[in-house]
Amino acid sequence: MEERVKAVIDGITVGYSEHGNGTPLVFIHAFPLSKAMWEPQVDELKSTYRVITIDLGGHGESDIVPWNDSLDGYAKHIFRLLDHLEIDQAVFVGLSMGGYTLFSIYRHFSDRVKAMVLADTRAQADSKEGKVGRQSMADVAFKDGASAIADIMLPKLLAPSTLEHHPEMVEQIRQMILHTSTAGIVVDLVAMAARPDSTNLLSTITCPTLVLVGEEDQATPVAESQYMAQRIPGSTLVMIPQAGHLSNFEQPDTFNQAIQSFLKTHRLQSPA
Ligand code: MLT
Repeated sequence: MEERVKAVIDGITVGYSEHGNGTPLVFIHAFPLSKAMWEPQVDELKSTYRVITIDLGGHGESDIVPWNDSLDGYAKHIFRLLDHLEIDQAVFVGLSMGGYTLFSIYRHFSDRVKAMVLADTRAQADSKEGKVGRQSMADVAFKDGASAIADIMLPKLLAPSTLEHHPEMVEQIRQMILHTSTAGIVVDLVAMAARPDSTNLLSTITCPTLVLVGEEDQATPVAESQYMAQRIPGSTLVMIPQAGHLSNFEQPDTFNQAIQSFLKTHRLQSPA
């Protein structure tokens, strides 16, 4: 299948990529990045799956979605694309803010979720202090732009060893952040601060679920993933050594392997 990078749907430009055939896998990116963070997954999985990545509103190639201030709005943005692509059900993979968005998807569209992968994320809502922190970061974004946000976020996104030994990765992530509009960054912060607590949702999840986390994740530490995995019936937890918050990017082989073996265990592979 041919790669497509943009569609105008209901007057809104949606940036996405689509590769391969078979079971649809939909990847939802973290704050304040873009679909480009999933390149190592696209490269590996496209030979056996229909791999879709999407830019949330105001990120990468996507227009900001007018009047959106919530993760539910991001969930609708994703289904706007999936309806356009005539995809009814998919396996969803969300990392961090992508995981928060995945909770929103499960809350409103569970019948369209075949299985999910919650990577480097948490079920709890923001604390009072967390919300204040979001507001300060929005002030920084307005005043100093995406480059100041990159300076704040890079040490949170990547493990210390990645920061020290992989300057090329650091630069790739920096460029993704610089490519995000200030408005997109601010909408993310408002939406994340307003997101509801999803802890009560965990025990109601009935689809196959994989929980992944980098062992050195400082933004959403391992304990958050253990908490989710203990409460989601039948879920599996995989910890990824030598990875921080962006475990998919820092250790793509281990991350991809975990997804492939999860899909195999649950017989979600593409039909032959
Ligand atoms: C992310 O990676 O999406 C963010 O660290 C999430 C957050 O700030 O809560």
